[in-house]
Amino acid sequence: MRKKIVAGNWKMNKVLDEAVALTSELITMAQDEVQGDVRIILCPPAIYLTVIKKYIENSPNFALAAQNCSDKVSGAFTGEISAQMLQSIGVEYVLIGHSERRQYFHESNELLAEKVNTALENGVSPIFCCGESLKQRQNEDYIGFVKNQITESLFHLSAEQLLSVVIAYEPIWAIGTGLTASALQAQEMHAALRQHIASKYGEEVAQEISILYGGSVTAASAPELFASPDIDGGLVGGASLKSREFTNIIKAR
Ligand code: G3P
Repeated sequence: MRKKIVAGNWKMNKVLDEAVALTSELITMAQDEVQGDVRIILCPPAIYLTVIKKYIENSPNFALAAQNCSDKVSGAFTGEISAQMLQSIGVEYVLIGHSERRQYFHESNELLAEKVNTALENGVSPIFCCGESLKQRQNEDYIGFVKNQITESLFHLSAEQLLSVVIAYEPIWAIGTGLTASALQAQEMHAALRQHIASKYGEEVAQEISILYGGSVTAASAPELFASPDIDGGLVGGASLKSREFTNIIKAR
């Protein structure tokens, strides 16, 4: 059964007391207002993971994701954080391949495949991010481009390994721009990616993979997006920094 997931990527935002306040508000709102089995994944800056883990430990539908991890297991890599460290503090997920990491830190599909391997080997589930640029959407085979991201970074995995991966489709032209992909645009890509997975792993596995949409998701746009057959939830940026807005997005799932 595909998991319903709403994840909030806080990126590089919030000082400690703001991060704690946001977490407390979200837990209270979720307890009072959220029904059903949606998984709420908070992706705070790594420095806050252990603090926030303590706040959510009695809230079973909450989980934590790091925003990145090293492809290395351990060693002389100053500033890096390993999947092993994340697992040791109870972090269940890690974002891998976010477009901002691909852009600013030049992360290639090959490097991301290594990060996926290291995360899986250490018991952390990758949330693998993919998506095309505006130029690619306007001028190129944008679906082929995103399929290739999946092929190059995930298609070396066994079916069993792939079932631990969540995919997040985030069209770069919709990230932080206020320009959300329409439900039709998002559904088109999600269906294409699910079919691409089915072509390699079979329909049963493809139907088990959660594929999230990310890119200017708001409480207003979430209901139509989440009503689409191949959209299993959202990876939310800016709107996840506001407890009421993010809770309304969760309620829409
Ligand atoms: O990872 C989610 C993020 O990239 C989307 O950001 O602000 O467009 O919701 P935003």
